[in-house]
Amino acid sequence: MIIAIDGPAAAGKGTLARRLAQHLGYDFLDTGSLYRGVGLQVLRAGGDPADPKAAKAAAERLDLKLLADPDLRDEAAANAASLVAAQPAVRAALLDFQRNFARKPPGGRGAVLDGRDVGTVVCPEAEVKLFITASSEARALRRLRELQEAGQAAIWDAVLQDMRDRDARDSRRDVAPLKPAADAVVIDTTSLSPDQVFEAALAIVDAKR
Ligand code: C5P
Repeated sequence: MIIAIDGPAAAGKGTLARRLAQHLGYDFLDTGSLYRGVGLQVLRAGGDPADPKAAKAAAERLDLKLLADPDLRDEAAANAASLVAAQPAVRAALLDFQRNFARKPPGGRGAVLDGRDVGTVVCPEAEVKLFITASSEARALRRLRELQEAGQAAIWDAVLQDMRDRDARDSRRDVAPLKPAADAVVIDTTSLSPDQVFEAALAIVDAKR
């Protein structure tokens, strides 16, 4: 079984995807980390993530060690990710890896992938498609807390603005824009706890098993 979980930043999809994968004994792939890795690789080489040549070269030769780099989680990597992710050549270079993972997960049981276009482009055949969303204020507040817990200085206005800019870029791009698949179940997590989101998602998965 393939479970596709899409949605905007900090809506809770990563937490949900990991928990579902652990509960079901499935393999988990955070597809955003691939785009972050490409963005970080361009930044580290002194390039511009908006430059198609630099971004394509990084996507075609992505150094997988970067996926475990602590800088992958910071806002600079997130913004670079959303710039490289708008480019068709970058998306094409990362597609096979994601599809192979979904169709032949290492553990052989099933796969949970989270991202922006898993249900629409990467795995349109997924048995379960969830679109996890929340208000931009709720998501910015979660991100602010995460940054503060990681000991990083963070300002509310800047975090909210960054979130809105990234949403706009991800939703308005021509290739694989952020949107729910026609057959996705939308869960708005604005006023739900992580446990409530997990229970709601598990009920949907169980109904399909
Ligand atoms: O999910 P995360 O915040 O780590 O993703 C970083 C960026 O990577 C997103 O803002 C988006 O631009 C891009 N992305 C994407 N398609 C995916 C996953 C992430 O375009 N499937």
